[in-house]
Amino acid sequence: MATLLAIESSCDDTSAAIIRDGMVLSNCIANQEAHRQYGGVVPEVASRAHQVNIIPVVDLAIKKAGIDKKEIQAVGFTRGPGLLGSLLVGTSFAKAFALSRNLPLIEVNHMHAHVLAHFAEDPKPPFPFLCLTVSGGHTQIMLVRDFMDMEILGQTQDDAAGEAFDKSGKLLGLGYPAGPLIDKHASAGQARFPFPEPSMPGLDFSFSGLKTSILHFLKRETAANPHFITVHLDDICASIQGTIVTILLKKLRKAALETGIQHIAIAGGVSANSGLRKALQTMGEQEGWTTYIPAFQYCTDNAGMIGIAAYYKYLAGVFCGQDAVPYARQS
Ligand code: KG4
Ligand code: ZN
Repeated sequence: MATLLAIESSCDDTSAAIIRDGMVLSNCIANQEAHRQYGGVVPEVASRAHQVNIIPVVDLAIKKAGIDKKEIQAVGFTRGPGLLGSLLVGTSFAKAFALSRNLPLIEVNHMHAHVLAHFAEDPKPPFPFLCLTVSGGHTQIMLVRDFMDMEILGQTQDDAAGEAFDKSGKLLGLGYPAGPLIDKHASAGQARFPFPEPSMPGLDFSFSGLKTSILHFLKRETAANPHFITVHLDDICASIQGTIVTILLKKLRKAALETGIQHIAIAGGVSANSGLRKALQTMGEQEGWTTYIPAFQYCTDNAGMIGIAAYYKYLAGVFCGQDAVPYARQS
């Protein structure tokens, strides 16, 4: 029996989970409300909050799992990519915990963990599969050959899909993170304002142009009608969401055609988006794909997915030393 403690602290969520034999026994998250007032994550504020939250969150995860600390056999932690100051807190905690109990350490790539969140519950995708991983910091189409063998087939060259949601939301005066708010408004609206789609080569994405065209559109419309945003908020949100989802799914379809792979998954914070979830299902039915959509608790950042990724490394005997340092970018 393998019981693991997993730690996630790459951005603004402090999370701890207990995983036993590939099953998530507990998955606790302390959100940081402090960033809302700034309209985005402030790295220094995030790392200070991680320091305050980490011990209580780990205690809670152990308590909720109903285990004794002594039963933990290894510690998995997010090494990167992410905010360095935030990662340092989780990494240092994981190292200290492992050192004090003489346990092996397992470093986890945050983006791989988003993909492997699909192995927390059934149905689990068979290898190889494609995964569109869309979060606040990344947008990637991954070819997943095995638990530790993943290739990025295409990725954003500027903003991530989550950033496109959050920055558009800021232009609309919505709070941070705006993704879930745009999702909510979109469900009551009609996508009747057309926004241009970027022409990116291959399987790469670009979202910065969309943000600029939304900015110009809102400037033009509010000059004519100062109440334009308030009156048409639902339709504007539906239009923004519709454009982002269309951009994402067109590339995913291209990747499926090019690779011939028909097992298609989505992952990351933006995979919680109801428009994306619905559109993937519809496209899957049209294309004959088997689609994999994660449960909501495994979409946004959580230590459960870090624990699942760590578990498969544990089985393969892949550990790291106390000298492992965080990295901001995926190499
Ligand atoms: O994976 P995640 O929790 O953190 C990163 O690794 O970045 O993703 C956070 C992103 C944010 O940009 C947030 O706005 C977006 O996921 N998000 C959503 C939804 N829920 C979270 N975007 C669109 N619709 C949602 N329902
Ligand atoms: Zn993430």
